[in-house]
Amino acid sequence: MHFLAYVIITIQLFGGLQCQKLPAKVKKCHFGDGKCLVESANALLRDFPKGIPEVDLKPFNVLSVRDWLLVNDSQVGGAWYYFNLINQINYGFENTTITEIRGFDKDPTTTKIEIHGKIPRLVYKGDYVAKGRMLWFVDIHSQGTSESDFLNFQFVLTLKVRVEYRNNKRYLKIYELVPNIRLDRWIMWLDNFFPDNEDLTIAVNNLFNRNWVEFWNELEPGILRLFETVFLSLFEDLFEKVPYDDLFLAAEDPK
Ligand SMILES: *[C@@H]1O[C@H](CO)[C@@H](O)[C@H](O)[C@H]1NC(C)=O
Ligand SMILES: *[C@@H]1O[C@H](CO)[C@@H](O)[C@H](O)[C@H]1NC(C)=O
Repeated sequence: MHFLAYVIITIQLFGGLQCQKLPAKVKKCHFGDGKCLVESANALLRDFPKGIPEVDLKPFNVLSVRDWLLVNDSQVGGAWYYFNLINQINYGFENTTITEIRGFDKDPTTTKIEIHGKIPRLVYKGDYVAKGRMLWFVDIHSQGTSESDFLNFQFVLTLKVRVEYRNNKRYLKIYELVPNIRLDRWIMWLDNFFPDNEDLTIAVNNLFNRNWVEFWNELEPGILRLFETVFLSLFEDLFEKVPYDDLFLAAEDPK
């Protein structure tokens, strides 16, 4: 995600807002120079964790996330579940380390584009609504606050792109973004899960946290789709607005 920050800055540099004074620290790169892109992205993250309001760069440390219906079984039969995350805020992107960037060649369609990174602790805080029925249990109907901590969160984003021409300029269009995620631990706490029974709420949370791997395996497809939409909407917006060639140094420019 933080590569985006680099892209945004570059856009602002070359996109025509010459009157804006941009940090001289932000380094431009040649096409396909993954090493340079990694350094530039990491420098930006380090130097501007709260974004750069002058160029509409959003803060990395506090980011709102769209509401997300994580589980939506059809509500029939003896066992089903519904879980909706709302008003979620994402904390911790400012601590991302980009480890590798591949692709972004002169012709971006020739090589696979990949962005690799890791985040020591990614936190989601917000509200949840849960409903459900279990064979062995009571009906669930609860809402409250939720906090999720994803520890040692590692991601690889793979992008498939094509090039579109507008006004004789090349624009990058993403038609597929596949996130791949690994993590060391997922800690979740759902407040008020059983409104009338705090002991049971604690028991269920403990159950979840002891068995987080099973929950992750089951919920991963939905979580990946969430990340996909978040990343994609950001990339799409940027590449939609700014010609691809304006994001990089010209071939003849020195480093
Ligand atoms: C959730 O599932 C129900 C029943 O299957 C469906 O009618 C509803 O449209 C779904 N909601 C969303 C947001 O997908
Ligand atoms: C990000 O790193 C800073 C400095 O180490 C730390 O204080 C902060 O809690 C981290 N953010 C999260 C969400 O863990």
